[in-house]
Amino acid sequence: MKKIIILMLLCFVSLEAVYTEKVKVPSITFAIEDDPNIRVMQRNCQWCHSYGYILNQGRQSKEFWHKIVLKMRDVYHAPINARDEKIATEYLYKYYGNGREKEGY
Ligand code: HEC
Repeated sequence: MKKIIILMLLCFVSLEAVYTEKVKVPSITFAIEDDPNIRVMQRNCQWCHSYGYILNQGRQSKEFWHKIVLKMRDVYHAPINARDEKIATEYLYKYYGNGREKEGY
């Protein structure tokens, strides 16, 4: 019993030592293009992950972006309504599109 108490005290001491360190967590903001429809992006695409996920895809076709929006809705259960599905796809293609309607070359 004594051993357990000593072990517990040791654990507490080492934990306390960790918490006295000053830890600076980096904060990175990914800004996407402003647009009259920015609110659609804000309310549908911002509360699970950052816009970094969008920016990291590079320029893509309209079909690619539509599939992404559908994946967020159908696989990850984002409650994106039919109107916002269209607006988000148009927005993504307008600013992060590659000029092609379909995927591939
Ligand atoms: C309900 C939560 C949720 C919402 C809302 C959401 N996403 Fe996602 N998104 C995810 C998850 C989970 C992943 C996969 C994360 C991983 O693989 O690490 C993801 C990944 C992505 C990716 C990376 C590519 C991929 O296929 O995994 C992109 C691009 C993306 N989301 C765009 C969007 C856009 C655009 C919207 C708004 C229309 C949106 N997300 C809204 C949950 C969400």
